Amino acid sequence: MKLDYIHFIKERISHRSYAADPLSKEHRKSLELFLQEQTENPYNIPIRFNLIEKKDNQLFKLGTYGVIRGAQTFLVGSVISDGDDDALIAYGYSFEKVVIFAQSMGLGTCWLGGTFTRGNFAKAIHLDEFEIIPCVSPIGIPHEKRTLLEKAMRTAARSAKRKPWKEIFYLNNFDTPLMKEQAGDFAEALDMVQIAPSASNKQPWRIIYNPDKTCFHFYLHTLNGYAGNKLGFKIQKIDIGIAMFHFEAVAAQLGFQGEWHAADPKIFIPHYHDGENSYINTWTVTGS
Ligand SMILES: Cc1cc2nc3c(=O)[nH]c(=O)nc-3n(C[C@H](O)[C@H](O)[C@H](O)COP(=O)(O)O)c2cc1C
Repeated sequence: MKLDYIHFIKERISHRSYAADPLSKEHRKSLELFLQEQTENPYNIPIRFNLIEKKDNQLFKLGTYGVIRGAQTFLVGSVISDGDDDALIAYGYSFEKVVIFAQSMGLGTCWLGGTFTRGNFAKAIHLDEFEIIPCVSPIGIPHEKRTLLEKAMRTAARSAKRKPWKEIFYLNNFDTPLMKEQAGDFAEALDMVQIAPSASNKQPWRIIYNPDKTCFHFYLHTLNGYAGNKLGFKIQKIDIGIAMFHFEAVAAQLGFQGEWHAADPKIFIPHYHDGENSYINTWTVTGS
């Protein structure tokens, strides 16, 4: 089944308030099937997912420090990682796939990388020795059904909270901002990266388009002094995985097949006063 990724990526927002019912049997079954079969990522790194109910885990305090209200069910993703490797990018990619699938069933989610009782979730899923739980997400029916007007207002407000193209997308090098017309048929895939979720909404993705080779180089812009750096793993690598998933899924929906191949093109990286860009991966079109 191919999803209308453009629709569901646009529709997704973080929900922090949920109806108090557990997940319905049908929703749980669909999610479990999806988790078993469809969470692969370009790195072929296995991500272990668990759907856990609060009521089955009363021994452990599954909490979110008051950030999330009402949620009964949580998606927990764990991975073997040293905290600074490709596993985190793979993790972002696979986890976001589940988030968008949940969205397609009308379920709300909210990525949580900081505000949850990590140790207790670890006990609930019997975390293995070399695994970490970078994030969890509540998953359920969002509390208030928003009216269409509210939804439209939120979408507008959100796009206002995203960085403009000229700060994140470039043509051939970091000196030349990419204009929408220059992105041509790929513009919508980039639009769907622009509205992706990211830790603290930092939007650390930077992309250079090379039209001669029809490829897109993905970089991570890390910020000096960002509090998220203190979590013990590089949370912004997860953001890049999310961006990669949005880009690839939407490109495919627009009719473009491509492949990922990490080979640093050695494009000159300017000096930034607030952080630095590091190369992550390249998507090259292989067919349309
Ligand atoms: C990796 C990651 C970690 C996040 N961690 C938290 C968190 O700990 N607490 C929280 O309330 N939101 C968290 N968020 C949600 C972001 O704040 C949110 O995605 C961003 O502000 C954009 O808003 P939107 O998701 O409604 O588009 C996280 C998002 C990502 C991608």
